[in-house]
Amino acid sequence: MLKSLRLQLAAWYLAFFSVLFLAFCLVLYGGLSRALERRLDEGLAMTVNISAKLMQEELDEMDGDAPQAAEEVISKMGPSSGEIAILEGTRLVAATDPGDKADLESAAAEVVGGSSERAAWILPHWGKSGARAGTKHLSFRGRTFVVLAVEPLDSIVRGLQVLRQTFLLAMPLLLAIAGIGGYLLTRRGLAPLGSMVEQTRTITGQNLETRLEIGKAAEELTTLAASFNELLSRLDQSFASMRRFVQDASHELRTPLAVIRGEADVALSHERSTAEYKESLAVIQEESRRLSRLVDDLLNLARADAGHVQLHVEQLYVNDLLSDCCRSVQPLASARNIELECRPGEDVAVRGDEELLRRMVMNLLDNAIRYTPPGGRVSAMIEAHGSDVRIRVADTGVGIAPDATGRIFERFYRADKARNRQQGGFGLGLAIVKWIAESHHGAVDLTSQPGQGSTFTVRLPAIN
Ligand SMILES: Nc1ncnc2c1ncn2[C@@H]1O[C@H](COP(=O)(O)OP(=O)(O)O)[C@@H](O)[C@H]1O
Ligand SMILES: [Mg+2]
Repeated sequence: MLKSLRLQLAAWYLAFFSVLFLAFCLVLYGGLSRALERRLDEGLAMTVNISAKLMQEELDEMDGDAPQAAEEVISKMGPSSGEIAILEGTRLVAATDPGDKADLESAAAEVVGGSSERAAWILPHWGKSGARAGTKHLSFRGRTFVVLAVEPLDSIVRGLQVLRQTFLLAMPLLLAIAGIGGYLLTRRGLAPLGSMVEQTRTITGQNLETRLEIGKAAEELTTLAASFNELLSRLDQSFASMRRFVQDASHELRTPLAVIRGEADVALSHERSTAEYKESLAVIQEESRRLSRLVDDLLNLARADAGHVQLHVEQLYVNDLLSDCCRSVQPLASARNIELECRPGEDVAVRGDEELLRRMVMNLLDNAIRYTPPGGRVSAMIEAHGSDVRIRVADTGVGIAPDATGRIFERFYRADKARNRQQGGFGLGLAIVKWIAESHHGAVDLTSQPGQGSTFTVRLPAIN
């Protein structure tokens, strides 16, 4: 098998061309040989017609002297009219070549009997390749005459032979030209493919921003290059976001680790009182909790990216879920002097993973409480909207600036870095909310007025 596409295409082209050329030769050859034979037959018909007419006139003139009339006809027709024989009944009267008397008589009998092929065979020396014959009857005063004309096929056969030889000679030459031409054409047509291969070889994780250039090429190849370039930009984007993720994650891990190490170093630097040790351990404990939370969140997001999170989907009532979550965050709200209003409403069922949905609502409530100053209000409610269930968490907090709303769901994004770190966030909460909503075929929206408050709404498909 040919491995190269170029050679394969050229071979197909050559095979197709050979069949076409062969068919062309056969049609031409057949058509030409038929046309030549037809012309010969027409010539023979004309010769016998003229000869018969002449014979009639000569017989009239010579008062029925058949031999003389026949001789006269033959000499008038001349040698260019091929072989002519005139018979009376089955007896030869005169012929261009009367030496073949017996042959001519039986040939005439065959032709009259309807077989010009056999007549030609009887007269072999009149043409090596056979001959064709024509006859015409005429009557004169009760006597019957037959005019026989025979034309050898030699010239036709020779002509066709020359044609055959020409075909045989031309065939290899033409096929060679077609083969080379086909190869050069496919090579030219596929050249951009080679250049694409060369260019893709140089692309690695380090230069994913490279794009293939193929300039002017066939539509199929430019489409291929374009879709390859699209693939590259998607890869480039995910590589960039992966790199950013790793950078941000390491950055976030550094702070709690530094605090833990610092605290331990200080505590161990010299003897301390039990109270001091306890204080240091409490700081270490708090930072370790933060670290665990961060690592959990990171792990969740990484699993979600890899598509490895198996949702434990079951039917559940979101209003129950909301009540539970409100109960859990109530102490935090009270501690921050925030009024928490929970309006779970009637039973509304959805299908989903209870643990994940709980985490989603907790993240929203946690944010609402954290980013609302003391004295503010946080309200959570459920609304059933036809095929949708909406979980709404609204607060009267600091709000989010319009330029930040677009980025709020990005990983590690925090609207106010310094303050938010102190408040304990890593900027992963909303990214997780978004992922959980989407993995339940839902979505999360945000409306916010800086200084006045924010409202987060999660839409989930309801069970009808
Ligand atoms: N209810 C809210 N009110 C004001 N800002 C908010 C609210 N929820 C989230 N934000 C802003 O969005 C950022 C991202 O939130 P999140 O992903 O939960 O991260 P984190 O809470 O860990 O900082 C927060 O840092 C905060 O600036
Ligand atoms: Mg948060």
